Amino acid sequence: MSAAVLLGLGLLAAEGRTNRCYFNRTQEFCVCYNLSEETVGSIIQCLPATVVEFQGGDVEKYMAFPIRDPDPSVIETLGSLVIQKVIIENVLVPEILLARALKFFSYTHVQDLAFGSCIFQGTGDWSDMDGQNLPIVSLSFHNVTSAPLTGHEQAFSSLSRWLETLEELAVTGSRVSSLPCAIGKAFRALRSLNLAQNSLSDGSLTPAFCQGAFPQLRELSLHHNNLSSYHAACEGVQLLPELRHLDLSHNQLVADPSSSSCRWPASLRHFNLSSTGLDEVPTPLPPSLEVLDVSHNHLRAVDISLSSLKKLFLNQNLLQAVPSLRNYPALDTLHLDNNSISELPRDELQLLERLQDVAVAGNPFSCSCSGAGGLQALAASGRLGQGWPGDYRCHSPAQYQGWPVARVPVSALRCHRAAVLAPLCVALALLGAAVAVCVVRAGHCRRA
Ligand SMILES: *[C@@H]1O[C@H](CO)[C@@H](O)[C@H](O)[C@H]1NC(C)=O
Ligand SMILES: *[C@@H]1O[C@H](CO)[C@@H](O)[C@H](O)[C@H]1NC(C)=O
Ligand SMILES: *[C@@H]1O[C@H](CO)[C@@H](O)[C@H](O)[C@H]1NC(C)=O
Ligand SMILES: *[C@@H]1O[C@H](CO)[C@@H](O)[C@H](O)[C@H]1NC(C)=O
Ligand SMILES: *[C@@H]1O[C@H](CO)[C@@H](O)[C@H](O)[C@H]1NC(C)=O
Ligand SMILES: *[C@@H]1O[C@H](CO)[C@@H](O)[C@H](O)[C@H]1NC(C)=O
Repeated sequence: MSAAVLLGLGLLAAEGRTNRCYFNRTQEFCVCYNLSEETVGSIIQCLPATVVEFQGGDVEKYMAFPIRDPDPSVIETLGSLVIQKVIIENVLVPEILLARALKFFSYTHVQDLAFGSCIFQGTGDWSDMDGQNLPIVSLSFHNVTSAPLTGHEQAFSSLSRWLETLEELAVTGSRVSSLPCAIGKAFRALRSLNLAQNSLSDGSLTPAFCQGAFPQLRELSLHHNNLSSYHAACEGVQLLPELRHLDLSHNQLVADPSSSSCRWPASLRHFNLSSTGLDEVPTPLPPSLEVLDVSHNHLRAVDISLSSLKKLFLNQNLLQAVPSLRNYPALDTLHLDNNSISELPRDELQLLERLQDVAVAGNPFSCSCSGAGGLQALAASGRLGQGWPGDYRCHSPAQYQGWPVARVPVSALRCHRAAVLAPLCVALALLGAAVAVCVVRAGHCRRA
C-alpha cells in the first residue's frame, strides 16, 4: 500500500512524538493519533476497520506534498477497503490539500466523512473535482472554522456533481449566520440538514431556503440558534415542499397570533418546540402533525385539536389539567411530567388507558381514592412510563402528603365506604326485619 495514498486518504495528521493507530476489532474502529509520514505504516492495521478516526495534528507541512493520481493497483486496493466512515478531529487542514485529497475518496466505499474541531485554512483549487462523483453521502462538520462560505463559489461549482448526490449534511457549532441561496440549490438530493448550535437569526432563513433550494429536504434541525419569531420561522421554511421533521427547540420564540397568515409545509409531521420560552401553543400549527414536542415551556393550558397527532410531549410546563383527549383521536403517547396536575380526569380515564405510553411523574397529586386509584389502575395496566412508582407522590390530603401514590390504600372498604356500607345496612335491616317477623311469628306460634 503506497504511503502516498494513505496520506491522501487520511489527510495525515502530523507532528508529535507519540504517534500510532489503535484498532479495536470488536468495534471495527481504528483511531490514529498524531500520525506522521514516518509512522504511516501503523495505519496498515486500520485496514480491516469500518470506521477510522484521525485525531490531532497539523498537516500544513505537507502542503507541497505531491499527491499523484494513483496507479491501477492502488485503485484496486482502495476499492477493496471496507472503511465506511472517516472522522477527522482536531486537525488544521489547508484547503489546498483537502481539494487534492478528496479525489481519493472516489476510489473507496467511504460513505460518511466527518470533521470535528478542525480549522480549514486558505482556499483550495477545486478544479480537479470538476464533474467528479464521490461515494460520500453523509458529510458533517462540527466546531469548525473556515473562510466565509460566500468566498467559495468556485468550490461549489467544481463540487456540484458530488454535492447534488449528497443526502445528509451537518454544520453544527460553527457560528454559521447565513447560507446563500445558491448553496441550497446545489444540494439537490439532500434529505437531512442539521444546522444546530449556530447563529442563524430570523432574517437568514428566507434566503437560505429560497425557491428551489434543498428541494428534497425532509429533516431540518435548527435547535440552539438565534431565532426569535415563530412566524418568521414559518415564512423561512414554507418553500420546502418535502419537509417532514423540523426542530426549532432551544430558540427564544415569540408567537404574535395576529401577525401572520403563513402556512407551514403541509408535509410536516414532526415538530419540536421544546425549550422555546412559549406561554401558549402557537398558531397556526402544521395541520397533519404526528409528533409535537412543546415540553419545557411556560404553558398553562393546551387547547388545540390535531386529528392525526400520535405523540404529544407537554412535560415541564405549568399545566393544571390534562388536555382533553377527545381532541386527539390517534394519540398513543402523552407525556405530562413536571406540571401542576393534581388529578387525572375521571371521565377520560378510559381514554387515557387507550394510550400505549402515559407519563405524569412529578405532579402534585391529590391522593383521594379516585385520584390514587386511577393512577394505580393505569400503572397496573402497564401504560405508565418511566418514573413509576418513585416519582409519583401525593401532595394532598395532609395525611398522605409526600407518600408514593402507589402506597395509598384504595381498598373497597376504605374508598367505597358508602358503596360497601349501603348494602350492609340493607342486609342488616332485612335481617332485623326477619328477626322481627320471626319474633312476631314466634309469639304467634306460642300463642297458637
Ligand atoms: C499527540 O501529540 C501531542 C503534542 O503534539 C501530545 O500532547 C499528545 O499526547 C499526543 N497524543 C498521543 C495519543 O500520542
Ligand atoms: C474495544 O471496545 C470495546 C467496547 O467499547 C471495549 O470493551 C474493549 O475493551 C475495546 N478493546 C480494546 C482492545 O481496546
Ligand atoms: C473547537 O475547536 C477548537 C479548535 O478549532 C478547539 O480549540 C476547541 O476546544 C473546540 N471546542 C470544543 C467544545 O470542542
Ligand atoms: C441574534 O439576532 C439579533 C437580530 O434578530 C441580532 O441583533 C443579534 O446580534 C444576534 N445575535 C447573535 C449572537 O448572532
Ligand atoms: C426535541 O428537542 C429536545 C431538545 O433539543 C430533545 O431533547 C427532544 O428529544 C426532542 N423531542 C423529540 C420528540 O424528538
Ligand atoms: C422532572 O423534573 C425532575 C427534577 O427537576 C427531573 O430530574 C426530570 O428529568 C424531569 N422530568 C421530565 C420528563 O422533564
